[in-house]
Amino acid sequence: MRLLEERILKDGTAVNEDILRVDTFINHQVDPELMQKCAKDFASHFKGMGITKIVTIESSGISPALLTAIEMGLKLVILKKQPSKVLNDDLYQTMITSFTKGTNYELTMSKGVISEKDHVLIIDDFLANGECATGAIRLIRMAHATIAGVGVLIEKNFQPGRSKLTDAGFEVYALARIESMSRDNIIFS
Ligand code: G4P
Repeated sequence: MRLLEERILKDGTAVNEDILRVDTFINHQVDPELMQKCAKDFASHFKGMGITKIVTIESSGISPALLTAIEMGLKLVILKKQPSKVLNDDLYQTMITSFTKGTNYELTMSKGVISEKDHVLIIDDFLANGECATGAIRLIRMAHATIAGVGVLIEKNFQPGRSKLTDAGFEVYALARIESMSRDNIIFS
């Protein structure tokens, strides 16, 4: 999506070759008009696939996911992060390791928000190592639902997230795909 690429070039900052800061328009201050256009793009791409629910992971995925849910007329489920294992029979839980942030947490979903009748679209801000998305897929499968695909605003395709997902048979749709980056140059594929 050209608009998002242009915005990344204008307002994004490559902290180093791995990390892109998008704090002024995606994950600290949010540009709602840009997010709405991104949501329309997701909705148009995933239209007609029988999707019944949108799922995201707190916190930065919420704004694009909520607007996509509005565009598609669907409910949004926000997967929660818990610092340590809280045993609870009413929850599905799976451990996530964030390579980017160097943290571990339990990704958590209440039983009952997703059922075996659901066909789910996962929306998130970044696809990097694919840990969040594969964790979300594990939880959705625990609920015996099916997965229509994964939509992300920004994919860093020099990291293994996309191949982890596509190798497992999932469709990945990214609005901006970064091939490589350095402090003064961001190259899209
Ligand atoms: P994954 O997102 O593909 O699973 O990879 P990884 O485990 O490495 O990343 C975990 C967290 O780091 C995610 O945020 C993800 O959005 C964020 N992240 C990954 N790459 C970048 C980047 O280049 N720039 C920025 N700004 N963030 C990046 P999270 O832990 O889910 O937290 P939240 O920010 O959504 O609250």
